[in-house]
Amino acid sequence: MTAVEMNREGDVAVLLINNPPVNALSHAVRMGLKLGLEFADGSGAKAVVIAGQGGTFIAGADIKEFGQPPKEPGLGDVIDLIEACSIPVVAAIEGNTLGGGLEVALGCHYRIANVKARVGLPEVTLGILPGAGGTQRLPRLIDAPEALAMITSGAPIDGRKAKAIGLVDEIIEGNCVEAAIAYAHSIADKPFDDRRLSKRELSLSKVISLQFEGVDAQIIKRARGAIAPLKAAECVKAAYTLPYPEGIAKERETFIELVASDQSKALRHIFFAERAAAKAPSDVSGTPRDVASVGIIGGGTMGGGIAMTFADAGIPVTIIEMSDEASKRGIAMMEKNWQRSAARGRISEKDVETRMALVTGSTSYDSLKDADLIIEAVFETMAIKKDVFGKIDAVAKPGAVLASNTSYLDINEIAASTSRPRDVLGMHYFSPANIMRLLEIVRTDETADDALLTALAIAKRTRKNAVVAGVCHGFIGNRMLTPYARQAGLLLLEGASPEQVDSALTKFGFAMGVFSVGDLAGLDIGYKSRKDRQLEPHEVRVSLIADRLVEAGHLGQKSGSGYYLYDKETRARSENPAATDIINAVREELGITPRAIDENEIIQRTQFALINEGAHILAEGIAQRSSDIDVVYNHGYAYPRWRGGPMHYGDSVGLKIVADAVVKFAEGDGALFWKPAPLLLELAENKMTFSEHDRHNQ
Ligand code: 3HC
Repeated sequence: MTAVEMNREGDVAVLLINNPPVNALSHAVRMGLKLGLEFADGSGAKAVVIAGQGGTFIAGADIKEFGQPPKEPGLGDVIDLIEACSIPVVAAIEGNTLGGGLEVALGCHYRIANVKARVGLPEVTLGILPGAGGTQRLPRLIDAPEALAMITSGAPIDGRKAKAIGLVDEIIEGNCVEAAIAYAHSIADKPFDDRRLSKRELSLSKVISLQFEGVDAQIIKRARGAIAPLKAAECVKAAYTLPYPEGIAKERETFIELVASDQSKALRHIFFAERAAAKAPSDVSGTPRDVASVGIIGGGTMGGGIAMTFADAGIPVTIIEMSDEASKRGIAMMEKNWQRSAARGRISEKDVETRMALVTGSTSYDSLKDADLIIEAVFETMAIKKDVFGKIDAVAKPGAVLASNTSYLDINEIAASTSRPRDVLGMHYFSPANIMRLLEIVRTDETADDALLTALAIAKRTRKNAVVAGVCHGFIGNRMLTPYARQAGLLLLEGASPEQVDSALTKFGFAMGVFSVGDLAGLDIGYKSRKDRQLEPHEVRVSLIADRLVEAGHLGQKSGSGYYLYDKETRARSENPAATDIINAVREELGITPRAIDENEIIQRTQFALINEGAHILAEGIAQRSSDIDVVYNHGYAYPRWRGGPMHYGDSVGLKIVADAVVKFAEGDGALFWKPAPLLLELAENKMTFSEHDRHNQ
């Protein structure tokens, strides 16, 4: 197979990139483009079309080549060759046209796009910036605000939007390659000197200066510690102040610096981690079962959110509720959520109608007799779950996959209560389920291979990031949350304030600190679950402050106060003096003399607690890879993506440092809260990382 096929259509030479699955710009593709251009330029052809095989133009540079020794020709050189070509070059933009792919299109003299094409520069999501001329050519084609938005957010736009902002010359609905060839014939004899973007003059007019004002502050706020967006903005600004060759030199220098940065390594790690996690475990074989319709038990916040993800993906869904009123209420809430999305322009009114037409409410389990997948999302009590599974078991057709959305309960026990344990698994969604991308798929001791494959396939269809987990209390994510939250609680007892802990965590990159999250979720939820269980004395001690807050009516945001006080109008938070009194009183009661605690200790205690529990989970086989744990924390718990996830963070800190600290934390009373994970100690001893451990075990 040649990476770039060369064909002739009349007077037009067609270079067709053929590098499945996404036509990434590997060395072979760059070489093929170079040879193809040289051939076309001297072949008597009057124009060239560059297109991609299989409905994708080019999804970008080959990320696997990053960090490897560079191989000539570089992408920037190939794009310069395209631009310098003596005959006009037309890009046939369809499917994913991302990163280096869009930069290739910007090197072309004309751009024809399919309306559905996904056009963007997502480099910042990998901790880098467009490094093959994108930051300099795009501002020479479209207005500064649009160029800045595309380059600093990384978000793609569709063909229609690309046309509206002047990024492409024509849009078409049908076959893009044919349209580009016809277009190339139509412009073949026209002068095109002014279409070489690098030759266009740019200057920093007053209007453009104004457009840059305040942009940095916005980017810093949105980036939450990520450096690439700000560096990318600097390069875009340079396009207006420096001549092209100097602008390109600045882009190159910044690109090289960013590729080597820890942030980019972490972001590339999580990119590949997401894709590895979505694959079937190595011991699983077979094909997924067909899923044409889905049933959900429970139409509350969770059930409704899950139902929305299916309707969003065009899959009919039936929701079972206890009464007609509850059913109507649940479906009305879904409609309201979709209407809100329509009001924000994310979907159309027609989309709302289409989705609503896919949703059916019912009070009878009989309505589920044809469903291929049934997901239970009812109250988190074993007896209730078993009762519901009994009813599902009685009506579901043979071969239907039966899933529980439990967050903590033993799915082996639920499965064993049915007549078909092989069809049972966990599908643990995160609230709000239609927004949050994580789906923990919990494999029981009995789950059939094709049932697991069905859940993985459904995750892909409904655009979720799937991670396969084994059965244990809390699976991967929630199990790790317990020691993390406990450390936060202990830090409060020992002398830190909620503000201090939260601000260390937000500086680390979390969107919210642990106490703000508690206030948002409602402190009564944790309180209730603690009261339902028999706690060990050390567990009681660590939750005393939370208990006292709830008992004094400080339930969090919903009651106007919790760890913090909330302004009724603005919801702005400030110190809650009543909480401070409670914290002081509890410390006194427990005989604790508060001490000064620094940020470093807060980060080590909370983050190393996650890593240590993650190592236990890995050793027990609850997670298949450490990188799966990173995916869970990125998509379920807002872990700062540019840190790669807790396990990658451990690798970047050094496992010896983590292990030594954990052993120290476990001394004395610490032994109640810390059980150093043997795997962590072993890897530290052998100077290994979790990533190396993953590779070793594949
Ligand atoms: N380089 C190398 N491999 C890539 C790749 C890339 N740019 N993009 C995707 N792949 C691989 C994936 O790792 C996956 O491999 P696997 O099957 O072995 O796991 C395979 O292609 C299919 O990818 P997905 O499972 O993600 O397929 P989807 O159809 O769901 O998504 C996509 C396709 C939207 C293109 C998505 O893969 C994606 O977002 N890719 C990255 C796009 C990107 O960031 N481009 C910019 C690269 S950086 C750059 O261009 C620098 C330049 O400025 C110099």
